[in-house]
Amino acid sequence: MPILSTNSLSLEINGQQILKEVSFSIEKGEIVGLIGPNGSGKTTLFNVLSGFLKHTDGKIDFEETDISEVSAPKRAQMGIGRVFQNFGIFREMTLEENVLVALESLPKEKRGEINNLKEKTKETLEFIGLANRAKEKASSLSGGQMRLLEIGRTLASGKELFLLDEPTAGVSPKMTNDVSSLIRELKDDGKTVMIIEHDLPFIAQICDRVFVLDVGSIVLEGDPQSVQHDVRLKEIYFGADPTN
Ligand SMILES: Nc1ncnc2c1ncn2[C@@H]1O[C@H](COP(=O)(O)OP(=O)(O)O)[C@@H](O)[C@H]1O
Ligand SMILES: [Mg+2]
Repeated sequence: MPILSTNSLSLEINGQQILKEVSFSIEKGEIVGLIGPNGSGKTTLFNVLSGFLKHTDGKIDFEETDISEVSAPKRAQMGIGRVFQNFGIFREMTLEENVLVALESLPKEKRGEINNLKEKTKETLEFIGLANRAKEKASSLSGGQMRLLEIGRTLASGKELFLLDEPTAGVSPKMTNDVSSLIRELKDDGKTVMIIEHDLPFIAQICDRVFVLDVGSIVLEGDPQSVQHDVRLKEIYFGADPTN
């Protein structure tokens, strides 16, 4: 059963069609890359999936429930994790405290399932490879490490679907590797990931499938190799050859 699917999802703002009949289906445990030129609607699609923007047509199903009318906070509680870059992090708190806060914000019934918050915090920091920094302030982390911490917090807060918007932007090559291993670990853990990225080799390396968005529509999709080598990709990014 798909964890997330959309049917003819559209968004119109002030007469402008920003998303146009976007339909797709993602299985639990899949890693799906979302690529496309600047302004093609990638971030907007994440805003619509997480409920920050309300679509004007079509529908969204999450775990076989129509969430079209569900608020953003409720969608987050249901397990849709929008990972904001360095946004939810409390810089003056330690890494440990940052994860604890995420655990403490869990709905009561979910928190009840965790026997030991301290232990879960330690586990989460180990998962993201930052256990040795547990007692340090978040402000001491590099940009890339903050991204790992943000993913860790999303994981600790019980999310099933991770929406990552350009997690490697401005990050060192080593840290890009850490981010990609973390995404693979999420997959091994049964989590589902949608990831917006400009870095095609990165996408090809970690994704099961890729969607290409252009002017608000999915115009190409498939496994990373076939998308990467599709002659239409160049056209989408650089426009049709005017000599043709
Ligand atoms: N809230 C909004 N109001 C008006 N236009 C918007 C809004 N959000 C996004 N857009 C427009 O939608 C288009 C897609 O933007 P965006 O999703 O940020 O693209 P991408 O992430 O692919 O670079 C752009 O033309 C942008 O100006
Ligand atoms: Mg964007």
